[in-house]
Amino acid sequence: MPDIDHIGICVHDLDAALCAWRDGLGFRVADVCDLADRGLRVAFLDAGSSRVELLASSGPDSEIAGFLARRGEGMHHVAFRVADLDVALAAARSAGMMVLPGAGRPGAHGGRVAFLHPKSANGVLLELVEDHQAAAG
Ligand code: CO
Repeated sequence: MPDIDHIGICVHDLDAALCAWRDGLGFRVADVCDLADRGLRVAFLDAGSSRVELLASSGPDSEIAGFLARRGEGMHHVAFRVADLDVALAAARSAGMMVLPGAGRPGAHGGRVAFLHPKSANGVLLELVEDHQAAAG
């Protein structure tokens, strides 16, 4: 049974969001990174054994620009940790689930990631994150 790695939330303004999540709610900011190739600025907040990922656009071509324009701020995806991404994707595909293009690329923290289309998972965009520490250990 995979653990939740993180919950992704789209925001318009990362600094304003941090005011609420860090200052108002007391989350510790583990990391803020610029993913320029994806047009994203991302903050990870510690939440027990999982994290909250706040996603903001850093440019007009960002991965989340369409989502923000259509739906506004809010829940974007749920990420689960898997031991072996290839095994997990093979199982998902054989169950008829749609794997989005770009599967297997490195995520924000180096482990490989893949996304499954919301139509395949009851309306929820799923991210699978390979647990490279478990793989290495
Ligand atoms: Co994510």
